[in-house]
Amino acid sequence: MSKKTVSSGKRSIGTVAIRWHGGSLELLDQRLLPDQEHWITLEGASGVAQAIGDMVVRGAPAIGISAAYGVALAARHAGGGDWKAEIRQAIRELAASRPTAVNLFWALQEMEREFACCHSLDEAVNRLARTAVRIHEEDLAANLAMADNALEHMAAEKPFSVLTHCNTGALATGGYGTALGVIRRLHEAKLLKNVYADETRPWLQGSRLTAWELSRDGIPVTLNADGAAAAIMAAGKVRWVIVGADRITANGDVANKIGTYSLAVLARHHRVGFMVVAPSSTVDMSLESGKDIPIEEREGSELRQVRGMPIAPDGVKVFNPVFDVTPAGLIDAIVTEKGVVSTPDLTGMRSLFR
Ligand code: MRU
Repeated sequence: MSKKTVSSGKRSIGTVAIRWHGGSLELLDQRLLPDQEHWITLEGASGVAQAIGDMVVRGAPAIGISAAYGVALAARHAGGGDWKAEIRQAIRELAASRPTAVNLFWALQEMEREFACCHSLDEAVNRLARTAVRIHEEDLAANLAMADNALEHMAAEKPFSVLTHCNTGALATGGYGTALGVIRRLHEAKLLKNVYADETRPWLQGSRLTAWELSRDGIPVTLNADGAAAAIMAAGKVRWVIVGADRITANGDVANKIGTYSLAVLARHHRVGFMVVAPSSTVDMSLESGKDIPIEEREGSELRQVRGMPIAPDGVKVFNPVFDVTPAGLIDAIVTEKGVVSTPDLTGMRSLFR
């Protein structure tokens, strides 16, 4: 096993998946977990765009951070001729890598703003690298703050269990995690009994990544099939469903991993709390509602095969949207680093995000 968790002050921030070395970016290849811990080294923006599209790195904040480093690499390796055009081309390529997580476009916009102030290539190389590092560090800080905000909001006195979906941990972020950060914080505060982790078909972020992250950090976890969530709630086993987000619109609708919407319906039926945890870089106030969010559809092979092994008739038609939209009305709380929006709607969202 490679180096385990990293710590920030007293808090352990989990297994980070993004390492910046100035001239190169290293990504822990999440396609190979949990069997292999293999790092990929990237020296150009095209490689980073491809790594995002292929899910070497995934999770909304981690995608944004990686894209920012991709722009920094583009500056570093620009030819010196029309360097501005080269960097702009890199930004376009990175923006085309995945459509749903707004953190990608947010991070690219931050980089573009910085780039617009640069008068020379040298200045661009330094400024863009500094900005990417800032985006990375601010994401970690936001996760730590969100965890505190969530803990205060839940006002729990006794340990309880939660259910989560997909992977929202250190692997998906700059460290610590969003929903998994809250879970980490509950564990630190001795308020966590157990985490039920949905396996998260079809890519299996829950079984391959969340179960791995939590087990390795000594946080109690039970893996369940996605279809078991209703039975878990009906049996009164969990008090909260806690998930992350890929994009939150002005009215409080939330796009997240496919299957999140069904969990919200189930939670409401069983009177289980439903909490979304995401940094403000996931909030897109330019979109009125979830109907406007572009939902990524991925290849049918993700359902027809598991790691190259056929599990469905060859060539069967497949519908594979990898995100869905949970209407704001099913959400009890959206937790961000700026504060908590309870029973989110346009007014509540506007009060935190102008
Ligand atoms: O397709 P993925 O693995 O990138 O999807 C990830 C999710 O849906 C996460 O829940 C979301 O990005 C929040 S991660 C902190």
